[in-house]
Amino acid sequence: MAEKYYITTPIYYPSDKLHIGHTYCTVATDTLARYKRLQGYDVMFLTGTDEHGQKIEDKAKEAGVTPQQFVDNIVEGPGGVKDLWKLMNISNDRFIRTTDDYHVSAIQKIFKKMYDNGDIYKGKYVGKYCKPCECFWTESQLVDGKCPDCGREVQDAEEEAYFFRLSKYADRILDLLENTDFLEPRSRVNEMVNNFIKPGLEDLCVSRTSFTWGVPVDFDPGHVVYVWVDALTNYITALGYQNDKYQDYDKGWWPGVNIVGKEIVRFHSIIWPAILMSLGEPLPKKCFGHGWLLLDGGKMSKSKGNVVDPYLLAERFGVDALRFFLMRTFPFGSDGNFSNELLIQTINVDLANDLGNLVSRTTAMAEKYFGGTLPAGQRADEALDAPLVELASGLRDRYEDAMEHYAPHKALEEVFQVIARANKYIDENAPWALAKDMEQNGARLARVLYNLLETVRLCTVLLTPFMPDSCGKIFDQIGACEGCRTWDSAGKWGSLKAEATVRKGENLFPRIDMDKELAELEKAAEEAKKAALPALEIEPFAQENVDFDTFCKSDFRAVKVKACEAVKKSEKLLRFTLDDGTGTDRQILSGIHKFYEPEELVGKTLVAIVNLPPRKMMGLESCGMLLSAVHNEKGEEKLNLIMVSDAIPAGAKLC
Ligand code: ME8
Repeated sequence: MAEKYYITTPIYYPSDKLHIGHTYCTVATDTLARYKRLQGYDVMFLTGTDEHGQKIEDKAKEAGVTPQQFVDNIVEGPGGVKDLWKLMNISNDRFIRTTDDYHVSAIQKIFKKMYDNGDIYKGKYVGKYCKPCECFWTESQLVDGKCPDCGREVQDAEEEAYFFRLSKYADRILDLLENTDFLEPRSRVNEMVNNFIKPGLEDLCVSRTSFTWGVPVDFDPGHVVYVWVDALTNYITALGYQNDKYQDYDKGWWPGVNIVGKEIVRFHSIIWPAILMSLGEPLPKKCFGHGWLLLDGGKMSKSKGNVVDPYLLAERFGVDALRFFLMRTFPFGSDGNFSNELLIQTINVDLANDLGNLVSRTTAMAEKYFGGTLPAGQRADEALDAPLVELASGLRDRYEDAMEHYAPHKALEEVFQVIARANKYIDENAPWALAKDMEQNGARLARVLYNLLETVRLCTVLLTPFMPDSCGKIFDQIGACEGCRTWDSAGKWGSLKAEATVRKGENLFPRIDMDKELAELEKAAEEAKKAALPALEIEPFAQENVDFDTFCKSDFRAVKVKACEAVKKSEKLLRFTLDDGTGTDRQILSGIHKFYEPEELVGKTLVAIVNLPPRKMMGLESCGMLLSAVHNEKGEEKLNLIMVSDAIPAGAKLC
């Protein structure tokens, strides 16, 4: 029976739509899961969503829906988390939502178990309290020492809370980090030890009473379980730990491999093993902390407005090209700077030029010179063939070594060295020259093309975890049988039948025009940004009241436009000559040229406030102000002059 292999992504916060950074993390884990399946492991790949906590509660409130409705929409709704993973061809076997009933009841049992064994105890959580908001805050949540919600003064306060005896496990965690290869890359070990363990591990507050959107502590109403305890244990509840929904926990899946982003390594390499120690369960096999995708050197975040939309990129470049780019370009353990230029360049160089050309040239020549089927009786040439055959034959081992070390970028580098060597082999052997004398050189030409097809096949097997769909198409083009698509066959040069039959197909990776594409991407991003803006935005209402007498001092009158013209040298100003009923023309200047052409306003009846002190603009005097209604539509300022019925005479007072 195949050996079991369990691998997980972090479970994502559905507080906003996911971006390319989340996609990076999931695609990487998917690639590793597919690689293990290719090797013949029985793989369980888990991803999901982490749906509790104050942030979600607040966001739901803002959106005017319940927290459950809020997360349902982002997780299950159109363009949501599940849709994104489907689009990106993510092969997860399970998807856990921490609001799933089985998970909620398992968390309650886990919490109780840790309480019963004495590792969770009731204590006092010391923080700051905002009386008007009835809210507890920690020191670090305050903004300028004040309540982050209402900005008012806070006071010292205490709240009853449950604590986990994390300190008890400090020595065992230190041993795990320093003396095993549990945490990788190893550079993260020093970070954890120096920043968190050496200064002294404190007990961890694991319940809250200041909000309700969480798993209730069933033996103490009012408390909800700290969201990280709820989230981390998903890796075992999704297998059936403390629940009946699944029965896989004891069947060899656990312990598994946790792939996580670098900022949550602390939770996964300290708190998570300590929870498992407390439960008496086996520790994870591995915690791998990958780097971040940065944009302009900084972390992407919705609040900074600098997130990159995976939907847009997948639509424009194709899912496989995007998956490939993410894995090829950024060393998995380090940060990397995302840019559209880099993406297009990678597609053009690696996929269009190197791989795409190799496949299309080879299949085209097999069709042109042999009608698609290579003949038997091929002639090898040891000196010319050996460099390519040797390099390609050893590829699987080098690739495996890289993948086993969580270095998919290195594995791809190995594959592309072989592809480059194959392209060089075409030039060295000049098949077009051999084809000039088929009688003399036909057998040699057939061998050259066979070697190329075989190299394509080997590389395609190993590229399958990265670009599953495209690799299937390449296999079809080179006529690879089922047995030549396997891990075993990737280690054996010569698995493809000598009389291989090819079928030249579509160009899988067309070259992209960099300048044109960059301009279109920019336009699409602008449009997406606009679409994300609120359809209609109105100014917040004034908080302060104005007293009636003050209001009555403003003199609003109906005025008729006798003439209107643009003020010379001003882009904005229009000069109005108005009949205000006094018999003397009134001049008002208004910066509304962006919204109106002067001629369309002549004859209209408008509203002006006429007792403002005169002001000079561009050397002209303006006696009053015309009233307009203003709002924002999709981020664009809109203005409408207030126009009243023409039946209203000039000078009529508005009150
Ligand atoms: O942390 N580059 O959820 P999350 C690379 N719910 N990875 C990125 C990234 C970027 N720009 N932005 C985010 C959580 N990520 C918790 C996890 S697990 C028990 C609970 C990665 O949605 C990030 O590093 O904020 C993390 O690994 C994952 O996306 C989920 O982040």
